[in-house]
Amino acid sequence: MSDTLDTAFRRLLVEASGHPWARRFVTGTRIGQAVAGRFVAGETLRQAMEVARALDRQRITAMLDHLGENVETLAHAEAARDDYLAALSALERAPELDAAVSVKLTQLGLDRSIDACLDNLGRILDVADAQGTVVMIDMESHVYVDATLEVLHRAIERSPRVGVAVQSYLRRSERDVFDLPPGCRVRLVKGAYLEPPEIVYVDKDDVDAAYARLFMTLLARGHAVDVATHDPHLIEGVRSRVDALEDGWSRVEFQMLYGVRRDLQVSLAGRGYPVRVYIPYGTEWYPYLTRRMAERPANLWFFVSNLVRMR
Ligand code: FDA
Repeated sequence: MSDTLDTAFRRLLVEASGHPWARRFVTGTRIGQAVAGRFVAGETLRQAMEVARALDRQRITAMLDHLGENVETLAHAEAARDDYLAALSALERAPELDAAVSVKLTQLGLDRSIDACLDNLGRILDVADAQGTVVMIDMESHVYVDATLEVLHRAIERSPRVGVAVQSYLRRSERDVFDLPPGCRVRLVKGAYLEPPEIVYVDKDDVDAAYARLFMTLLARGHAVDVATHDPHLIEGVRSRVDALEDGWSRVEFQMLYGVRRDLQVSLAGRGYPVRVYIPYGTEWYPYLTRRMAERPANLWFFVSNLVRMR
């Protein structure tokens, strides 16, 4: 599909999925739940931990993501914080697992108050720091980039184990990387939100070229870089470059999403490369599923084939 058609399709899907009837249809039927099951570990922490254990048996590490975003009240933000504290406590009881956690700042109250959000994040960081767990901050839509970077700068003073995602489709990222806290951990992604064309690269080739440039800049500036993509060309480029460096793999790892390119996850891990899988879980899976569907038109056929099979 051409990049223009692809964008038009994504816009249509994202707009349609915003309607309450679409949400009700997808979340309230067995078909929607079955499709979500491909991308989401389950609705409970216990199910996410089971997935982490199964991955561990294949030498793949984990990153838990308790789903949720744009909470409407500070009470909901505090509940999300407590869900993360529960996840950290489960990880503390499973020291054999190498697992990080990933948070969204709008889940921790960013839309209500930056200070309250920082307070919730700080509580998570204190516990994570004490047990040696990394906490990554997802990057959400462009309207949150400034606030997210501000929170990162303030949070890293509390714990060096916090890092952030950077999106290669966003033109500003090539400037932003020069203002990141020195040496902080960065997850490099292409970007998953439908953004105004003026502020992002629209063509896949441009997004990929920016990804490669950002990777080189981050590496040269001494950051630990999580190469979070399923793109075989980018993965191969990173692999050959880092192989050529002495001790390069101490600072770089591959990351992929639960349910996406499982074959690639297993083959890279089997060849001894560090691979971590992002494991989303929880009841608030609808917006996450929408992004995964929009990323790849073929996923819609996966949805339709489930629809036909379950009739
Ligand atoms: P690309 O879209 O070019 O896909 C490459 C190949 O991967 C495809 O050809 C296909 O085979 C497979 N693939 C990709 N997406 C698929 C899907 N949904 N279903 C099935 N197959 C698929 N984004 C963001 O904005 N903020 C964030 O914080 C994060 N965090 C994050 C963490 C991790 C660990 C990963 C892997 C990704 C994210 N993302 C993200 C999402 C990211 O921005 C991007 O949207 C997806 O990774 C898809 O892009 P790829 O880099 O895989 O490339």
